[in-house]
Amino acid sequence: MKHEVVLIKGDGIGPEISDAVVAILEAAGAPISWTPAMAGMAAYESTGDPLPGETLALIDQVKTVLKGPLTTPVGGGFRSINVGLRQKFDLFSNIRPAKSLPGVRSVSGEVDMVIFRENTQGLYIGREKWVDENHTVAESIGVVSRFASERIIRAAFEYAVARGRKRVTVAHKANILKLTTGLFLEVGKELAREYPQIEFNDLIIDNAAMQMVLNPHKIDVLVTTNLFGDILSDLASGLVGGLGVTGSANLGANHAMFEAVHGSAPDIAGQGKANPTALLFAATMMLDHLGEAKIADRIRKAVLATLPQKEKCTADLGGSGTTDSYAQAIIEALG
Ligand SMILES: NC(=O)c1ccc[n+]([C@@H]2O[C@H](COP(=O)([O-])OP(=O)(O)OC[C@H]3O[C@@H](n4cnc5c(N)ncnc54)[C@H](O)[C@@H]3O)[C@@H](O)[C@H]2O)c1
Repeated sequence: MKHEVVLIKGDGIGPEISDAVVAILEAAGAPISWTPAMAGMAAYESTGDPLPGETLALIDQVKTVLKGPLTTPVGGGFRSINVGLRQKFDLFSNIRPAKSLPGVRSVSGEVDMVIFRENTQGLYIGREKWVDENHTVAESIGVVSRFASERIIRAAFEYAVARGRKRVTVAHKANILKLTTGLFLEVGKELAREYPQIEFNDLIIDNAAMQMVLNPHKIDVLVTTNLFGDILSDLASGLVGGLGVTGSANLGANHAMFEAVHGSAPDIAGQGKANPTALLFAATMMLDHLGEAKIADRIRKAVLATLPQKEKCTADLGGSGTTDSYAQAIIEALG
């Protein structure tokens, strides 16, 4: 039986990397039936709505989504569709692994960390307003609840237990944001008592950023609030070769959406330069989620075998190939 998956190809480099990923999954024999849907700038330009009701209904029904990156206008314009989708389907757990890869330049030695980002609250709830008529001062409200903190921190501990990980770190700014991230830290400390087999520590966010660069081996599973998680996961991507190589899962109780950590990269769109690895790794996380771990492993092995072949890889990987040559090489490496 095939798994039905909603495919949103996305904006910018989205369509080219999505096509590459679909071709690789098909070559690997992944039993997926793709249902295309539109969102983001592409949907806005053709329907006037960046998140059409039809797409929402489809996701609600199908429950699993592979999503290319979506462009969000900076400053004005519509709100982030990525953030909207995470909130709409209560995809509270954003899991972003970053692992050193063979043949890919890594700035900090061996890295193998997983960032858990709370995906529904913090400063991303969109409660911003001008304080004065002349728009010289703006304010933003961040919300952190015990409920949301508990479910993401528990997800991090459960992941650590299930994957044989040793340590969970809570990153926070409880010295300054004493109530919001203070609550997050407090919940972390409480939950740590339920998992005595997992080492627990906490780091203030600025120190966490430095430790990730200088001592990445000390970071195993790191869990944090929305904005901090967004920033630290890009930092983690930078440690292992850039945004082109890190995928992510957005999991809720009933729905799951898988995507690259990176954005729509308008600077390289349509030029055959985009690296599809991040979306491909997201797709392997999706295969794991759908119970197709063997196929996911086969694809990951094919990627590892392809990365040292520089002539096949994209420029961000230090290669001289294109999106297509790289995808083709992965397909050949599947054997
Ligand atoms: N989840 C998402 O859909 C998501 C995430 C982040 C940003 N965005 C949106 O994407 C748009 C562009 O944002 P940005 O430029 O700040 O970030 P970006 O991640 O799109 O690009 C940052 C840099 O990384 C490079 N890059 C990114 N992905 C790459 C890949 N697969 N292969 C090779 N190089 C790659 C780009 O060329 C660029 O130089 C914005 O509208 C932003 O809101 C969407």
